[in-house]
Amino acid sequence: MKILLLGSGGREHALALKLKAASTPVDLVSAPGSDALAELGTCVSLDLEDPASVAAWCTAHRPDLVVAGPELPLVGGVADAVRALGIPVFGHDAATARLEGSKAFAKDFMVRHGIPCAASHTVADLEEGEALIHRWSYGYPIVLKADGLAAGKGVVLAQNEAEALETFRAFMAGQFGDASRTVVFEEPLVGMELSLHVLVNADADRGTCALLPACQDHKRIFEGDRGPNTGGMGAFGPIPFLRPEDVARMHVELVEPTVQGLRRDGLTARGVLFLGVMWTASGPKLLEYNVRFGDPETQVLMQLLDEDLAGLLLEVAEGRLASRDVKLKPHTAIAMVLAAEDYPEGAKKGVPISIETPAATVIHAGTRKQDGQWVTNGGRVLNLAASAPDLAAARAALEAALPHVQWPGMQLRRDIGLKALAHAQAGKTVQDAW
Ligand code: AMP
Ligand code: GLY
Repeated sequence: MKILLLGSGGREHALALKLKAASTPVDLVSAPGSDALAELGTCVSLDLEDPASVAAWCTAHRPDLVVAGPELPLVGGVADAVRALGIPVFGHDAATARLEGSKAFAKDFMVRHGIPCAASHTVADLEEGEALIHRWSYGYPIVLKADGLAAGKGVVLAQNEAEALETFRAFMAGQFGDASRTVVFEEPLVGMELSLHVLVNADADRGTCALLPACQDHKRIFEGDRGPNTGGMGAFGPIPFLRPEDVARMHVELVEPTVQGLRRDGLTARGVLFLGVMWTASGPKLLEYNVRFGDPETQVLMQLLDEDLAGLLLEVAEGRLASRDVKLKPHTAIAMVLAAEDYPEGAKKGVPISIETPAATVIHAGTRKQDGQWVTNGGRVLNLAASAPDLAAARAALEAALPHVQWPGMQLRRDIGLKALAHAQAGKTVQDAW
């Protein structure tokens, strides 16, 4: 099967490793790819934000399947352009990708379809927003979200009125261009955050979905959830104290109304939806939709999946997904991010990396090969991923692998999954304070 994989990071390398590991022989082409992805196939330089250039390549090379990694090409309409050629795409149309591309659109969707979420106001006027801040009644922090894509920096939790005003004014002045000239204000939710990935098919005739195990990401750079936010420093899944009935509750309250909502709104779904969920004292609430796999959640999910990935993605791309349980290994998986010096403010590039053969999967995110030597080439450089019968054993497996990968200035969190492990060992459930 000839597959065009769009993207170049750790998520894509994890997908590529899984595609190549299955029994279906895969001829992999990555765009733009990376030196690590080049070891699994070929790379082609395409501008993913220009749907016509991707479509032109597809016309010439007729892949059997296109798999979209990141959200930006989807929001820009790459799936529409390729699907118009009759080529299956794992990835949503631009109209559906607005669920991630516009926070105001996503909030309207949640409210319209009765999906539990934070109370909110969408504002596109300076005076109206300032007045809202002055009479804010939901308590602090005030959550301000730039409507459009802002490279993961468009959400600010303002701790007081002055900070809220300053953030709002900067947004309205175009801190993220037009993306921040509409702002969603949200009530602060308190609880435990988790990442729920769902494969979804929706169209006028049918709506089906398959849940993947709930994962938990660790967003802050330092252990103990301190320091600035990052794209994610490590994840694990499934969450040991999340019971089948808890997952069923998310299915009924969040996932099912989403699938039915897509159908009712005339939207098509041919990919994954990654629901950012806050489990609050009053149950699960939806924070956001992503129209792509999470990074590093994908690195976890690919360790757990016990199916031929190419076949599964093609099923979704062709709209043939049956509502079913995806086959999984009875394991817990962890992915630990190894990040560059200066991340997340910057990233020290070109530093030689020492990689011996560790007893864990090495996934490349921001690396480059220079004269036969891997060097750092991005903020999140590598992931180490492993799975084991339980969370404690998976953590131990990664600890054992760690000494085999290093470079000067490497940053990592060794507490991935530790808080959840303590919560589980104390006999607590998802209903208990996190
Ligand atoms: P989002 O991109 O909407 O998921 O927001 C980024 C991060 O901000 C989330 O992962 C949460 O940690 C946090 N966040 C978003 N919305 C809220 C909210 N209403 N209350 C508390 N934290 C939030
Ligand atoms: N790990 C969070 C994300 O991919 O958005």
